[in-house]
Amino acid sequence: MHNKLLNNKPSNSASTASSPVGVMDSGVGGISVLHHIRQRLPHESIYYVADSLYAPYGNKSPAEITERCFAISDFLIAQGVKALVVACNTATAASIQAMREKYDLPIIGMEPAVKPAVKASRNGVIGVLATVGTIKSAQYAALLANYGEGVKVLAQGCVGLVECVERGELTEKTTRELVNCYLQPLLDNQADTIVLGCTHYPFLRPLIEQIVGPNIAVIDTGEAVSLQLQKKLIEQDLLMPNTDSGVEVVFWTNSQSVTAPAVIQTLYGSVANIEQLAV
Ligand code: DGL
Repeated sequence: MHNKLLNNKPSNSASTASSPVGVMDSGVGGISVLHHIRQRLPHESIYYVADSLYAPYGNKSPAEITERCFAISDFLIAQGVKALVVACNTATAASIQAMREKYDLPIIGMEPAVKPAVKASRNGVIGVLATVGTIKSAQYAALLANYGEGVKVLAQGCVGLVECVERGELTEKTTRELVNCYLQPLLDNQADTIVLGCTHYPFLRPLIEQIVGPNIAVIDTGEAVSLQLQKKLIEQDLLMPNTDSGVEVVFWTNSQSVTAPAVIQTLYGSVANIEQLAV
């Protein structure tokens, strides 16, 4: 049983190791993180919320994003989750502090993989693809101050890419043109390592790798997030033991688009249990 301090913060005092993990994103991008979690922690059930009606978050104010994060967290906590993964760089930068102040359960966030990119770079020039919200955030500035010293970090805000992924347009000509237009300045400036600083972008990895070629490393944070989740669950005695009891993966979306279930299904890669989200 999860040991809790007595306070008034919303949490699931009844949550146990068999409770699901909540994963949230502005939309379908966090499914790229869900894949890493499923791989590392195959015995964990996952409840995923795609806030697609409110996507993209990248052009919203921190206050607006925090309001959405609270609404989704309230929903997931009411469904009985034992931990929350904010599978969104933009929401982590804008809201994770407020979420941790408000809720009493493990909350795992994410940030662009600047630190591993600095390690991987051979020529000291890295490019970061992210939303404008992430790039303008204090958290991103702190990340550069902590890990970017002596390295040239080129930030590229990618307006419109989240929407391409939300529509399931991963290989269309218009998507390719947009990706190319964002990568070109980074390539012109000799970046040898590209950071995918938004969880939607790993779904564009094949396109990105095709454009940058084999000599440029492309890095994302999904694996690191799954490792951090595993650590937190072990620390809090909430890790689901290896059993044959079967897992549940459920998606909620508030998208009004008729193609939304098909997009989720494609990105998830198998038949998905999809519910309509009312918040
Ligand atoms: N997947 C979100 C991220 O990692 C996208 C944010 C948005 O909706 O603009 O930043």
